[in-house]
Amino acid sequence: MFDTIAPTYDFMNTVMTAGAHHVWRRSVARQIVAGEPRVVLDLACGTGDLSFAVMRECMSPCIILGADFSGPMLHLAQAKHARLPEHRFPVTFLQGNALALPLPDASVDVVTNAFLLRNLVDLDAFFRECARVLRPGGRFITLEITHPPVPGFRRAFELYFNNAVPLLGKLLVRHQEAYTYLPTSLQSFPNAPTLAAAMRASGFDQVIYRYLGLGTVAVHSANKVI
Ligand SMILES: C[S@@+](CC[C@H](N)C(=O)[O-])C[C@H]1O[C@@H](n2cnc3c(N)ncnc32)[C@H](O)[C@@H]1O
Repeated sequence: MFDTIAPTYDFMNTVMTAGAHHVWRRSVARQIVAGEPRVVLDLACGTGDLSFAVMRECMSPCIILGADFSGPMLHLAQAKHARLPEHRFPVTFLQGNALALPLPDASVDVVTNAFLLRNLVDLDAFFRECARVLRPGGRFITLEITHPPVPGFRRAFELYFNNAVPLLGKLLVRHQEAYTYLPTSLQSFPNAPTLAAAMRASGFDQVIYRYLGLGTVAVHSANKVI
């Protein structure tokens, strides 16, 4: 599915969020670079926007790795990288499964990802794999769509997400199935406090979260226990 939607993926993100996804990525990137990491892994990097946001925000030397299992997504990321006016720090893209990363233990300072978690069937296995590649004390930071905490607004968001998004997918890019899957994938996904509890239960420490986009997305962060 991700191979198929890759060519129109960025366009649809901008349409669905009215451009706000760039603001959210910048906010996550600032949070990432605040800890002055030397190696950042953007998991399920897609077309690379979070990797590039990290590169732009980095002030100290940093290696940025973007990993995804979709070849077409990675090709687009590489093409965008080649067109960027500035290459302040290296960004390297690699193909790999988020559940079996081609990286050694304790080799990364920050593992981040945007809009991946809803697509995973085994969150615990994913958290374990992130903890494996993180160095002790390293940070895990994830941006994901969530259930808005204010009930009235949540209902309005669900109406938009469940009805308008599949229609936009059908009319604008002819991928109704993928953009029907998108709201469906949120239905069984835990809300922000429950996701935080799952991260704690899987062994992460100092788990915190904040809402962005009027509570439609959440940024969770946690430390790998030293
Ligand atoms: C919704 S897109 C998010 C892309 C990007 N992170 C962003 O912010 O736009 C989900 C991405 O996760 C990738 N993906 C899903 N499951 C994966 C897995 N198990 N391993 C690696 N990549 C995965 C897909 O190929 C796709 O590029």
